[in-house]
Amino acid sequence: MKNWHSDTEYMHYVGELLETNEVQALGDFVQHYHSTRLEHSINVSYTSYKIAKKLNANARATARAGLLHDLFFYDWRETKFESGSHAYMHPRIALKNAEQLTELSDLERDIILKHMWGATIAPPKYKESYIVTMVDKYCAIKEVLLPIKLRFQNRKWLRKKELKSA
Ligand SMILES: [Fe+2]
Ligand SMILES: [Fe+2]
Repeated sequence: MKNWHSDTEYMHYVGELLETNEVQALGDFVQHYHSTRLEHSINVSYTSYKIAKKLNANARATARAGLLHDLFFYDWRETKFESGSHAYMHPRIALKNAEQLTELSDLERDIILKHMWGATIAPPKYKESYIVTMVDKYCAIKEVLLPIKLRFQNRKWLRKKELKSA
């Protein structure tokens, strides 16, 4: 992905949150096989922020809530809840954790809470929430497929090398 860390406007919105121990701790969890939860959260946050800017939506709220949408600290493959599925539970847990880190607007709360829309029933209230839920799915697929893509690229590159040296 492009240089999110050298995007001054983006960093102005999320820089302080990124430095917190809670957000940094997301780097300790595997999210989609080959990405950490921190990498995934930044991917979702920055991609959604860029789209929000293009659509004249609230880029600050989108960047912040995008970063915090998966702020939970358990392995989703192992932890099971009696009160609901992971898809239902983790947005609620993320929202609770995010509210302890920073003051959230109604819009930011909706973005976090509804990001599993499709797997959960309640639809988003705002266009920013639709952006994040779509980008979340897109990033998840991309993160799962990335190593496969790299493997194919390497294979092509190896084949070219073999042909040259033959
Ligand atoms: Fe999630
Ligand atoms: Fe996510």
